[in-house]
This record gives sequence, structure tokens and C-alpha cells, in this order.
Amino acid sequence: NQDQLKQLVAQAARDEVLQLPAGQVLGVGTGSTVNCFIDAIAPHKSHFAGTVSSSNASTERLLKHGFTVLDPNDVVQLPVYVDGADEIDPQGNMIKGGGGALTREKIIASIANQFLCICDASKQVPILGHFPLPVEVMPMACAIVTREMEKIGGKVTLRLQKNTREDLNQTPSQPFITDNGGWILEVSGLSITNPPALEVQINQIAGVLTVGIFAKEKADVLLVSNSTGVERIIL
Ligand code: A5P
Repeated sequence: NQDQLKQLVAQAARDEVLQLPAGQVLGVGTGSTVNCFIDAIAPHKSHFAGTVSSSNASTERLLKHGFTVLDPNDVVQLPVYVDGADEIDPQGNMIKGGGGALTREKIIASIANQFLCICDASKQVPILGHFPLPVEVMPMACAIVTREMEKIGGKVTLRLQKNTREDLNQTPSQPFITDNGGWILEVSGLSITNPPALEVQINQIAGVLTVGIFAKEKADVLLVSNSTGVERIIL
């Protein structure tokens, strides 16, 4: 099942980062696959000088395991950044942000020599855009960015908070708030045939914090698991 596939690819990523010389800083992404990766490297934490983390959730998990978590401002370069994806195309362009951590993910990916993407084969697509594209916006620009995204053919919904156990029967109505105080627009109906160009275009819209297209910060190496094992693809 999917959990086993996540474990499998997390173990392959663990084996790969343990090939790095000892004493390096490791870039750590966000999401359920990365959670498996964090747990897999925990017994080997002394191999690393520290980590930089792309979300409060990952930071919490790293600290719980006893890792040092560094401020990205204090790190000039990372040998590798390990993260999942919501979709990845054959060139290594990705849609990310399903967990809402896209802004910090892109920042940390930008200082890494190598983006090591870990996922199961269900994330591989010929063309990005079936997964609704997350766009993190300043709350005051929500309607403005929504109109701009509609102009390029997108259907836009504002991501809402998930129901808690207490209000399971209520309709959630509060916007989901990111670690940075932003809101997330989910844009469906786009067929992203030119990811680098669309990334630049959406970045130009005032009020956009980060678009979930990772083309400039694309994956360099993909570890992808399926029922027969893990494949390593250089992109
Ligand atoms: C977090 O914001 C995302 O970019 C995740 O990297 C992506 O959603 C993959 O998550 P899973 O490993 O949980 O599928």
C-alpha cells in the first residue's frame, strides 16, 4: 500500500544521504513521505552537523528526534535538499504545496546543490496541473490574485482549515493559514505545458508569496517507489 511505498522510498533516501561525507547540513522538506525519511535518518543523526527545515511541522519532528535545526540565514549552501512532491513531470518540474509549506520549501531548495525528490509512482505525470496548483498569497490580495488566476483559465478555491474532531459536522469556513501567515489558493483546470514560464508569470502578480510550481527549483534526482522497488532517476 501507499504507506509501504513511502517507507520504501524514505529508506532509499536515507541510504543515499548517508553516502555524504559526515558533518554536512541536510535540507529537510515537509509531508508524509518526508516524515518517514526523518524517522529513517533519526538513528544516524550524528552523521550530520545539523538540518534546515521547511516547516514548523518538520522542525518539531526533527527536534523530537534530537536533531539540530539551523536558521537558513546561517547556512550558505546545502549539499542536498530532500522533499516530496504532489506531482512531478519527466523533466523534474513539480507541483508542491499540498501540505501548505511551499514558500519555505522553495527557499531551502534554492540554497541546495541538489534537490532529491522522494515519492511513489502515483506522483509521476506527463504534464503538471491535474493536482490543483497551490498559490500562497497575502490575505489582503486574495481576491485580486484570484481574478488574475481566472484570467489564465484557472478555477480558484481558497483552502480552508480542516475540521477538528469537535466540529466534524460543521462546514469549515476559516481560511487555512500557512506558517508565514499567508492563505493558499488552489487553482485547478490548468494544463502546465511550460512550467518555467508559468512560474515566472504567476510570480509577477502582486500579492503572490509563492507559486507551487517548482521549475527553477526543480528536482535533480528522483527516487520513486512502486510495487517492484525503488528507481533512481537523474533529471
Ligand atoms: C508540502 O507543502 C508539500 O509540498 C509536500 O512536499 C507534498 O505535498 C508531498 O507530500 P506527501 O509526501 O505527504 O505526499
